[in-house]
Amino acid sequence: MTITLLGIESSCDETAASVCRDGIILSNIIASQEIHSSYGGVVPELASRAHLQNILPVLDQALLKAGISLADINAVAFTQAPGLIGSLLVGAQVAKSIAFAKNIPLIAVHHMQAHVLANLIGGKENPDTVPGFPFLCLTVSGGHTQIVVCESPSLMKVIGETTDDAAGEAFDKSAKILGLPYPGGPLIDHYAASGDPLRFKFPEPQIPGLDFSFSGLKTAILYFIQREKAKTPDFVENNLADICASIQGRIISILLNKLKKAASQTGIKDICLAGGVAANKGLRKSFQETGKSHGWRTFIPKMEYCTDNAAMIAITGYYKYLDQAFSPHSATVTARASW
Ligand code: KG4
Ligand code: ZN
Repeated sequence: MTITLLGIESSCDETAASVCRDGIILSNIIASQEIHSSYGGVVPELASRAHLQNILPVLDQALLKAGISLADINAVAFTQAPGLIGSLLVGAQVAKSIAFAKNIPLIAVHHMQAHVLANLIGGKENPDTVPGFPFLCLTVSGGHTQIVVCESPSLMKVIGETTDDAAGEAFDKSAKILGLPYPGGPLIDHYAASGDPLRFKFPEPQIPGLDFSFSGLKTAILYFIQREKAKTPDFVENNLADICASIQGRIISILLNKLKKAASQTGIKDICLAGGVAANKGLRKSFQETGKSHGWRTFIPKMEYCTDNAAMIAITGYYKYLDQAFSPHSATVTARASW
């Protein structure tokens, strides 16, 4: 039987829908919410309202792009957790309504597991382009920073994670200190491209094991900028590229040093990136160079599958469908979720 699955993602500020047929992504539609940029961060109430406005048009477009109608769908997957409750509820209710009306399976998906499994997209078409099991995944997003061992689509274990800020937060909070709008990660990436990463030195935290910490770096950047601005008011404007390159360089070295440690401890050589920060050009380049020098096979999802998207929910839903891991219609959404 053909499995034609609709995936819905609404955990934060992207409203997204995707159609996946037998593990092949047919469409991936994302509506980003611009409204938050003037507030310096995501405003949960505004996010929920925007999801309500966007979800049905996004769904229609996903079906249209896939060349199918709702009648062809035989399973629905949605993001159950973690995320903003009001945002999650919108996607969950739409998914449940479709599953109920059509009497088809409902599949609840863990957002962070889906980021990891985004690395399997494209595997049906080109098996060589995706990692084999077990693989390691460095998942770096606005809310999480984790090193995950993935033994199979349904068996994953977090072996390292942040003890405070996530890598995406480190980018966004640093950008805020520099006076850049939210989300600042892509802007730091942009300015860093023409800067010198060795110009300014920021500290590398000494955290034991495979865990991360970014709050000390943020404080060091704040004090540094305050000090320099007191001496030269135009310091940030005059040195933006070098400051961004130095901040980005330090965030990347913190991430990759732990990933090298994880690879050496586990002996795993298929290594992936995932999450919104995996869109960072500096990280992608350093990750691939590190892979080459350490004999890893490296994998990074396409840009559209790195930041929040529904294709990753659909592919995870597909593997859960194969395991018959269906959810009752009483399934609730939660802001936090263990693995
Ligand atoms: O995975 P994601 O889209 O949403 C969450 O689940 O959090 O990640 C969003 C995060 C934000 O912090 C954003 O600034 C960061 O990813 N990000 C980047 C880049 N693109 C997105 N950070 C650095 N460089 C980028 N190019
Ligand atoms: Zn995410």
